[in-house]
Parts: sequence; structure tokens; C-alpha cells
Amino acid sequence: MSIGLAKYWKLVVSALVIGMGGHAAAAPAVPGQELVRTYCSGCHRENSGSFERISAIRKTPEGWVMTLFRMRQVHGLVLEDAVHDSIVRYLADTQGLAPSESAAGRFALERRPNAQDMDLGPEISVMCGRCHSIARAALQRRDEEEWRKLAHTHVGQWTSIEYSASGRDRPWWQIASGPLPAKLAALYPLSTTAWTDWKALPARDLTGNWVVSGHMPGGKDFFGKARIDREEGGGYKAAYQLTDVTDFEFAGESKALVYTGYEWRGSAQVRDRSWREVYALSEDGNRLSGRWFDSEHAEEGGEWTAIREGGAAEVLALFPQSLRAGSTTLVTMVGNGLASTRGAPASFGDTAKVTVVQNEANRVRVLVKLAANATPGMRKVSTGGATGKVAVYTQIDQIDVVPAYAIARLGGGKAAPVAAQFEAMASTRLPNGELLPLGPMTADWTSIPFDAEAKRTEDFKYAGHFDARGRFLPSAAGPNPAREFSGDNVGNLTVVARATDGSRSVEGRGHLVVTVQRWITPPIY
Ligand code: HEC
Ligand code: HEC
Repeated sequence: MSIGLAKYWKLVVSALVIGMGGHAAAAPAVPGQELVRTYCSGCHRENSGSFERISAIRKTPEGWVMTLFRMRQVHGLVLEDAVHDSIVRYLADTQGLAPSESAAGRFALERRPNAQDMDLGPEISVMCGRCHSIARAALQRRDEEEWRKLAHTHVGQWTSIEYSASGRDRPWWQIASGPLPAKLAALYPLSTTAWTDWKALPARDLTGNWVVSGHMPGGKDFFGKARIDREEGGGYKAAYQLTDVTDFEFAGESKALVYTGYEWRGSAQVRDRSWREVYALSEDGNRLSGRWFDSEHAEEGGEWTAIREGGAAEVLALFPQSLRAGSTTLVTMVGNGLASTRGAPASFGDTAKVTVVQNEANRVRVLVKLAANATPGMRKVSTGGATGKVAVYTQIDQIDVVPAYAIARLGGGKAAPVAAQFEAMASTRLPNGELLPLGPMTADWTSIPFDAEAKRTEDFKYAGHFDARGRFLPSAAGPNPAREFSGDNVGNLTVVARATDGSRSVEGRGHLVVTVQRWITPPIY
């Protein structure tokens, strides 16, 4: 049943051969419906243009890839790559989810590490969320009958479902085939105005220049530009010109398909590494945002936002996000309409002396000298026609380790290790007692035993180590003769981040479990 991430991505972002249906630009070489008729109707009976088990379901592109994977693996349907890709595009375009419908489950499409699953209450958690994420179900839309048939599929194909833990303590099948389908159909119905409204919108053309800002945990945030052009066949290519916060300039390029009119799925080459891009286009077509990650290590990646160059004045991002009273800091602002003029000079508010270093419509760099008595708090920043916010502080009072709870996995053999990336998020306490977030800070990272048992088994010695950027790199998997009972290098650790603030040091703590490999990496976990 397993499919590796890289292989799956090849299925999602593939040869850009056939145009998109629905929201599309170019007309498909063979209409999608014709392909479904040819390749699927042998098993899925056609009834005046609708196909049994296919036509009353809507899914994300990843959802359709998973279904076709099962059609191959379990039911023996072999498709050429080009046919497979065209069918996925046709189904995602004509039977997809509207942006508002996929919003809650995007963390699963974006493959966010350490994300908490959706909470639909205790019944659905145990019934549907104990083998895979609830997001997998929440990223589909069906009528009641189709939700019931999905229960049939489960019990028919994964027969141990009724006997496994949390299946045998209740009449799983009676619930799954009885009252649950109506509940699921009420939560995630096939027909919605969100979808009909979305389908009626014109296709957005992404071609043009974009202003980009990215967050990379570990202190390598970046900004720059993207040029997006059409590829023959209806896909896109993007060229990136980026600069990180250490002023290192780099370029990259990407090829992408846009499913359902907004689901950007790209494959990028940046800094000699290949990255995946899972972005969503906003309804007005002017903002592209989501997550990018290493093609082999989905846990390594970051946030990405792009806005159309020349749009309404806006500060997209500000580096850094906080300023210390009494310091002089080089601040970079990226966005639209930023160039300061004599009429609208860049301003950082009271007690801030601003010297403009670079003054362009999409990038303004200023030296900000803050007086030692500058009032701590959030303050407004303005440049050109745009406004933003920056936090001012006199001292760091709290460090929160984010994520507060993380999982890393040992690597070895066919399963690569899964690292855990932490950030030290600082806050200052304002005179009124409120905590004001200051953004990520550099910190020293160490791990100590989480409890007495972890101390006894000396997990911190074996489980792995931190790099300077807060990334925990787990050890190799397998029996370790140096450990009790030749145990694996697993560990239960407290993560300690220590940030120095002048002569003080502030500490934050998190929890890290280092556990065994994960062998199956489906598109939606
Ligand atoms: C060899 C027979 C066969 C062919 C060919 C076939 N399917 Fe299926 N399909 C099945 C069976 C059996 C099921 C029910 C069990 C299951 O869901 O795995 C099914 C179920 C489905 C479902 C419902 C799954 C769900 O979400 O609950 C979809 C959608 C689907 N197929 C799509 C397709 C598409 C699209 C094609 C053509 C590209 C196709 N199938 C070709 C046998 C087939
Ligand atoms: C005992 C474990 C288990 C439980 C409990 C379970 N599932 Fe699944 N589910 C699976 C497996 C295994 C797959 C197939 C994975 C694959 O195709 O890669 C799957 C696949 C799915 C899919 C994707 C199928 C497709 O073709 O679109 C959906 C949606 C889904 N489950 C929803 C549910 C819902 C809703 C419930 C609760 C009624 C549920 N699952 C309960 C194990 C489980």
C-alpha cells in the first residue's frame, strides 16, 4: 500500500502535456470525460454522462491520485503516465474542492510536520481518525450514499478494522454504515454553494511578476521576486530571484500545474535542491501562499507568500519583526507601493530616526535608530503608501519553543530519518502584563531527559543531536548493543532553547519524542 513522497509527486506534477479543464486555458487533447469513459467505465457503469462511484465525489488533486493509486494497486488498472495525469487534472478541475472547503485540511496537503489533526469530536476521532488523519476525510465531499459506500470499502478491504484497537470496543460497522454517513454528509456535503460559486468564477491567469516573502525556520527567511509564465500545455513555469536575511542572493526555477483553478503544485530547483510547492491562489487571483518543502524530507521547508507586483500598497513582510529600544537595526520591508517620497517618508513612529538605504517600489531598506526610552509595544510603520507593524521591546521575557511537542524519526535502510525543526519564539512583557510576540530569536539548543526513565536509559546520549539552527537530527535506526536490551536509539527528551539577551539568558522548553521509522508516506497522511 505504500507510495513514497517523491514518486507520488511525480504523479502530481508531471509532464505538462494536457490543458486544464474547467478553469482552464488550453483545451485538453482528449476531453477528460472521454478518458474516464475509456479507462474507467468498464468497472464504473456510465449512466448519461455520470459514472457510478466516480461522479458523486469531490476530492483534492492528492485525493484523486490516492484513489487512482488504489485502482492500480488493488484493482489492477494500469494507466500510462500521460493518461493518469490528464484524468487527475480533469477530475480535480471538475470535481474538486472550493478554496473555502479545502482551507481547514490544508495542513495535510502542505505536509506540515507536527500539525495537530482536526477535531470533529470524540466519535469521529475514534471512528475515522485513528488510522489516518481526519483531514483525509475532511478533504472530500460526498453525498450520504457515497460516505456509506466508503465505509463498505473500508470494511471490505481492510477487514481487521473491526478487530483492531478502538474498533472492537464498539459496533464499528453498525456506526460506520448506520448514523455516521449522514453526519459526514452534513459536515462535508457533495453539493455546496461554495463549489458552484467557485466553478462559476473565471480562470485566473497567474502570468506576471510577483513579490515574494518566505519564512524558513532556523533563521533563513528570504524575500525577492518571481516571474511566472505559461508553459505550453497549460502549466506554468516560475523564475525566482531571492535574497535571504544574510544578504545571500540565489535563484531558482519551478514548474507547476494549477488544479481546480487555485491549487498550485510545483517542483522547484533552488540552491541545488529540489523542493515541492503546495500553494493556494486567493479568490481574487492576487496572492499565492502555502508551504514549500524538500522533495525527500517534507519536514524541512517553510512558508511562502507571493503577491502580484504593482497591486495595492501593502507591506508583505518586515525583517526583523521586532526592534530593541536603544539599538540601530537594518530593516527590510517587501511589498507593493513602498518607495518613500518626500510626501510620504518612511516612518517608524516616535523616537525612531530612519535613514533610507534602499528605496524601491517593492523593497525598502532603512536603518532605524530607536531611542533607549522608546516605548515597548506594537507600533505602526509606514513607507510610501503602505503600512505595517513592528514590535518594540527593552528585554526578552519569555522564550517559547515551537512546536511545543514534536516527533523525530530514526533513519536507516529505506526510510530516511525525519528531523525536527524548532524555533525559539521570543516575547516581552508589557507594563499592562500582556505578552508581546517578538518573533524567532537565535538560541542555543540542547536536550535533556524528559523524565526519570529517560534519564535512566540516557536517551539524550543516543537519540540524536541538535545543529546550531534548532534542528534535531535523529540517529540511525536499529538495535544498539550499547543500550539496554540492545534497544533502538529512541528517546523521550526535553528540548531546551537558551537565548541570550544582553547579560541575561532566557530559557524555553519543549518536548521531543524520537521514535521509529515511518514506512508508509501516502499523499494525505
Ligand atoms: C478493474 C476495475 C476498475 C477500474 C478499471 C476502475 N475502478 Fe475505480 N473502483 C473499482 C472498485 C472495485 C471500487 C470500489 C472499491 C474501492 O474503492 O477501492 C472502485 C472505486 C472507485 C472510486 C470510489 C473510491 C472512493 O473514493 O470511495 C473512485 C472515485 C474510482 N473508483 C475512480 C476510478 C477511476 C477514475 C477510474 C478510471 C481511471 C477507475 N476507478 C477505474 C474498480 C475499478
Ligand atoms: C482501521 C484503519 C482505518 C479506519 C478506522 C478508517 N480508515 Fe479510512 N482508510 C484506511 C486505509 C488503510 C485507507 C487507504 C489508504 C490508501 O488508499 O492509501 C483509507 C482511506 C480513506 C480515504 C481515502 C479513500 C479514497 O479513495 O478517497 C478516506 C476519505 C477515508 N479513508 C475516510 C475514512 C472515514 C470517513 C473513516 C471513518 C468512517 C475512516 N476512513 C476510518 C484506514 C482506516
